[in-house]
Amino acid sequence: MFDLLRYGFRVARGPTAALATLSLLMAVSAVLLAWLIGRVVTAGEAAAAGAGTSQLALLVTAAVLLLLARSVLPVGRELAATRLELGLDRDLAGRALGPMLAPVGIEHLEDPAVRDRYARSREVDLIGLSRGPGLVLSLWSSRLTVIGSALLVGAGLTWWLAPMLLGSVFFVEWWSTRAGRSETAAWAGRTEGQRRASYLYHLALAEGIQELRIFGLAGWIADRHTAERDAALRPVQSRRLRSALARLGVMAVHAAVTVVAIMLVVRALWIGEVSLGGATSVLSAVLLLATGGDPGTLVQARRAEASYRSLRSLPDLVSSKAPDRPERSVELASAPTRSIRFENVSFRYPGRDQDTLSGVTLELRAGESYALVGINGAGKSTLVKLLAGCYRPTTGRITVDGIDLAMIDSVSLAGWQRRIAALVQDFVRLPLSVTDNVAVGAGSAEQRADVAESARRAGLVPVVDRLPAQWDTILDRTVPGGAELSGGQWQRLALARALHSVDTGAGLLVLDEPAAALDVRAEAELVQDYLRLCRGVTSLIISHRFSVVRGAQRISVLHEGRIVESGSHAELITADGRYAAMFRLQAERYAAAGEEESDA
Ligand SMILES: Nc1ncnc2c1ncn2[C@@H]1O[C@H](COP(=O)(O)OP(=O)(O)OP(=O)(O)O)[C@@H](O)[C@H]1O
Ligand SMILES: [Mg+2]
Repeated sequence: MFDLLRYGFRVARGPTAALATLSLLMAVSAVLLAWLIGRVVTAGEAAAAGAGTSQLALLVTAAVLLLLARSVLPVGRELAATRLELGLDRDLAGRALGPMLAPVGIEHLEDPAVRDRYARSREVDLIGLSRGPGLVLSLWSSRLTVIGSALLVGAGLTWWLAPMLLGSVFFVEWWSTRAGRSETAAWAGRTEGQRRASYLYHLALAEGIQELRIFGLAGWIADRHTAERDAALRPVQSRRLRSALARLGVMAVHAAVTVVAIMLVVRALWIGEVSLGGATSVLSAVLLLATGGDPGTLVQARRAEASYRSLRSLPDLVSSKAPDRPERSVELASAPTRSIRFENVSFRYPGRDQDTLSGVTLELRAGESYALVGINGAGKSTLVKLLAGCYRPTTGRITVDGIDLAMIDSVSLAGWQRRIAALVQDFVRLPLSVTDNVAVGAGSAEQRADVAESARRAGLVPVVDRLPAQWDTILDRTVPGGAELSGGQWQRLALARALHSVDTGAGLLVLDEPAAALDVRAEAELVQDYLRLCRGVTSLIISHRFSVVRGAQRISVLHEGRIVESGSHAELITADGRYAAMFRLQAERYAAAGEEESDA
């Protein structure tokens, strides 16, 4: 609890201090009012007996002022709490995502422990967490009220009533925390199911909106979603139900203790052990105690605390899962100058029981164009991820100009990643303007200005001309004036981004399936341009289209994670192996299609 409060103070000192002061005033004023009411009754009795009304008037005025203050204080508390939550929200958003994005590699994102901890840190979601420090203060305020009230009862009637009433309040709190904890534990074991449920939700409302209808799967996905949520929530709900029933018993004990206390006050009044004023104060305090515990807030505060602990431990967990990087700093600003080498590289995805790449050895010489072909699932895109240092090889090494990518520090590796101009297979569609979408390919901010040339070569200009605000059009149809591109148009844009990256000095061009969504003309242009572009640039192109691949100086065939053939197009055709067979198959298909066209 202290941790949450310290966090509040660190991020938003002013609002937290204001909230703490106001919460303290709320507690003190509640107890003071209970005491004052008794004094008013005593003064009233005295006035009735003819002792004058001035003290009564004074006490009534004080009580009224206190009441007024108590109606204003919550407003102040609300204002301070809102300011505090705003400050925390801003901080929390970065804290949750920051550690997940920090490593240069992506291994940690596949780790179930990291994914779970991340989900748990967001369990109350970040809005709930931002309310945490406020909840703690509100809890402490209510605790202070019950302690003050108990003291009032002890002093006004008999001392042992104080621990009895306090015990009852804290018993309710203790029990509620236990129930809350077991509920949280039930939740914690269900993050996987919740994740699946939200994935289905996303599928139903975003990714699969069209296909779900075409395949008549809308009902199926709704049922799956319900079933997943049900399975995730049922244990939590049944635990809640059990808690609610047990609560009946707990609250009955608490009510019984309160009733005993009230009877004792009445008895003391009856036998003249306490004055009417004294009894009034004590009864007010007993009532404060009866309703004073705040188990709901306690449970929420504990939950926020657990979330905060997960959030705080996230960076450490992420760094323990992201492989340790050595201290070695190297300069790769002009790499590759000699070559990039895969030396007997094997790789297995975390949690898989088979290698995706095994014993891959190849060399991309600086300035040469290189192509990789292979059937679906052969491991081509995986090889690109390794080349970019997103994953480390399970065995073997990848060197750039002789420097092992696994043996350099994060900054150097990030430097290498910035040397790569890439069009990856599942390229990113940024909700930015066309210009910015292309410009992010550039190495530095100054180089971002002129994207027109790269865009022209990628065939993007006719696409841009038809957009509502041309280059400034935001490519996000959810914003006013935003637009959406077709699959092929997006691919041209991604290509422009990679070309722009080369134009602004990147050292390695990687194109993974650059032609997959291109029309025939765009593909032909790409082939021509690729050859021109590759002159002098180290490049790796992956494609199922042999028209694109055949121009590369060296070609390798990847099959089931192994390089099975290498050579130039002519050499591979002569060798008459797997490459030649695949090439012939595609060529025959094109030829057949051509004949059909000329027959028609
Ligand atoms: N993140 C991942 N976790 C586990 N396995 C993966 C992951 N990504 C890919 N794989 C597996 O690795 C294998 C190789 O995938 P990869 O994407 O490298 O193939 P590819 O050669 O690029 O295929 P394609 O021609 O279809 O693009 C596949 O069997 C795939 O299931
Ligand atoms: Mg691929």
